[in-house]
Amino acid sequence: MKNKPKKIGVGLVGFGTVGQGVAALLSDAESPATAKTGVHLRLLRICDVDLERPREVAVDSALLTSRLEDILEDEDISIGIELIGGVDGALAVVEKLLRAGKDVVTANKALLASHGAELLKLAESVGKQIRFEASCAGGIPLIGALEEGLVANRIDGLKGIVNGTCNYILTSMTEKQESFSRALSEAQEAGYAEADPTLDINGMDSAHKLAILAMLAFGTQVSLDNIYVEGIDRIEQTDLAFAAELGYVMKLLAIGEVHPEGISLRVHPTFLPRGSLLAQVGGVYNAVSVYGHATGETLYYGMGAGRMPTASAVMADVIALARGPDSCRCRSLSEWTGRKLPIVSIEDIESRYYIRVTALDEPGVMAKVSGVLGSKQISLSAILQHESEPAKPVPVIIMTHLAREGSVREALAEISELDVVSEHPVCIRVAEESV
Ligand code: HSE
Repeated sequence: MKNKPKKIGVGLVGFGTVGQGVAALLSDAESPATAKTGVHLRLLRICDVDLERPREVAVDSALLTSRLEDILEDEDISIGIELIGGVDGALAVVEKLLRAGKDVVTANKALLASHGAELLKLAESVGKQIRFEASCAGGIPLIGALEEGLVANRIDGLKGIVNGTCNYILTSMTEKQESFSRALSEAQEAGYAEADPTLDINGMDSAHKLAILAMLAFGTQVSLDNIYVEGIDRIEQTDLAFAAELGYVMKLLAIGEVHPEGISLRVHPTFLPRGSLLAQVGGVYNAVSVYGHATGETLYYGMGAGRMPTASAVMADVIALARGPDSCRCRSLSEWTGRKLPIVSIEDIESRYYIRVTALDEPGVMAKVSGVLGSKQISLSAILQHESEPAKPVPVIIMTHLAREGSVREALAEISELDVVSEHPVCIRVAEESV
């Protein structure tokens, strides 16, 4: 005899961009998820503080409530989805959902990066799960890959583009010469940016995601303080143009690497060789490359933000919970709360560098600048200067071979003190191999 479809009640907290996408998928009478899994999900309640704002997705008004208790107290709801964003309010919602005996799905990377360990402990103590596929890289099933598809691998490193808004901005500035502010407005209008887009452009959203990915990949607790973060807020068109001239494309990368001494975690703008795969990831797309000891490199690509891609990831977790207890998940997650690998400081990282020095166009300038670099054991691989009007400061571009970050920082501090240099040099890391 055929099994009867399993009916699972779901409560949604947060009816914004992604919440509406989830409501649309949950209300789809032709749901591919139901057809594939036999699980029949029922959206029983949608809670939001603002029920007046017009929405693009229509739902039965009887589902709407501004009282979280309507979800907490509904015994037919076994899964709560948190999509309100932010940290403090969301923390309270997730704790209440778990304590009310609901499994939780969240897309909230800021919450997980700052309170992940304590929430996982709480979930374990009440015998519930918290799942978060949508927290990293939008619609790409990256967390599932780390936890399941790559489970046989020791992960030696990962790197990628994990913020769709920044990638959209950098792509528009590079390909259409758009201004930073116009590109950001477009990303906001498309629903890619965070409620506070500062978190996107200052790199913190990428850092939140890197904290989660690194915890899963390397089986270690990570605090945000362990991550070196530089955003794209100070990027200038000049450097994008020089990048193009030198055969590079700028991307904001999140990088986690295993070293003999520990792990290094960083988010920063990076010049990638134009022909590399990551360099060709444009617009709101994300891509993350993961190095497993058995697989070698694997690459995950897709829409990193936006209503439906993110809703798809939320639904993957809801379906996984509805299908039954997950044997794989809790074990790897409980390591978050235990092991803490040493962190390798950014000063000890080696990279190639692009350095833009704004200097007077007069005899002896290059000798002074390259003298400082040489004194720090930094070897130059290329130098570029265009002819300019006499007596005006001119940009001089210096590309280095591999150098230690600490030495580069010391050199830049000395160069900025030179009387022939008019401003602090711009410095951007250059990825040496093509991924
Ligand atoms: N603001 C985020 C981004 C949304 O642009 O990638 C997805 O996490």
